[in-house]
Amino acid sequence: PTKVADLKVVLLGESAVGKSSLVQRFATNSFDNNRESTIGAAFITKKIYLSDENLNNNSNELKLINFQIWDTAGQERYKSLTPMYYRNANVAIVVYDLTDYQSLKKAENWVNELKLYIRDNQFENSSVSAKNSLTIYLVGNKLDLLSIKENEGPEFPLSLNNIQTYKTSALTGEGIDTLFNSIINDVTDD
Ligand code: GTP
Ligand code: MG
Repeated sequence: PTKVADLKVVLLGESAVGKSSLVQRFATNSFDNNRESTIGAAFITKKIYLSDENLNNNSNELKLINFQIWDTAGQERYKSLTPMYYRNANVAIVVYDLTDYQSLKKAENWVNELKLYIRDNQFENSSVSAKNSLTIYLVGNKLDLLSIKENEGPEFPLSLNNIQTYKTSALTGEGIDTLFNSIINDVTDD
C-alpha cells in the first residue's frame, strides 16, 4: 500500500504579490498574465509522487504527498478570514514582491502574527510535537523583474532573520521546485 501524507499549506501576503500565480505554477506548471485577484480564498490540491531515489528500500516509506493548499486573498477586507486558514496548516508560505518594499513590510507583519499564533498554540497544547507545528517559509516572488545589478531585493527586517527564505518567479518558474522540494524534505525527514 502507498503511504500517503496530507500536507496542509496556506499562502499569505499582500494582494498582487503573486500567491495565486505561484500555486498555479506549482499545480499546473502554467502562468496567467491576466489573473483576477482572489476573493476570500481558493483551495487547490496537488499530489506529488516521491521518486524512488529519494527513498530507502523500506516498503513502508512515504510515497505520496497530498498537498492541500489554501490560497488566501491578500486584499485588506479579507484579512479577518485568514486565521481560519492558517489554524490547521502545517506550512505557511508568506509571499512578498521582490520589487515592492511595502509588500515585504506586510510579509513581516504576517510572520509576526504567525509566530504569535505558534507560541500561543504551543502553550495551549504542549503535547503537540514540533513536527506537527506550523513551519514558516518566506518567499520573494517576481524574481524575473529584478535586474542582475539589484539581484538582492529589498533589505531584510531583522525579525525575519530566522525564517527560511526563497526567491521565485511564477512567470518563469525559477525557484519553484527548490521551494517545494525544501518543504517536502522538511516534512519527510524526521
Ligand atoms: P491576491 O489574490 O489579490 O491576493 O493577489 P495574488 O498575490 O494572488 O497575486 P496574483 O497571483 O493574482 O498576481 C498578481 C499579478 O502579478 C498578476 O498580474 C500576475 O500575472 C503577476 N505576477 C505573478 N507572479 C509573477 C512573477 O513571478 N513575475 C511577474 N513578472 N509577474 C507576476
Ligand atoms: Mg490570489
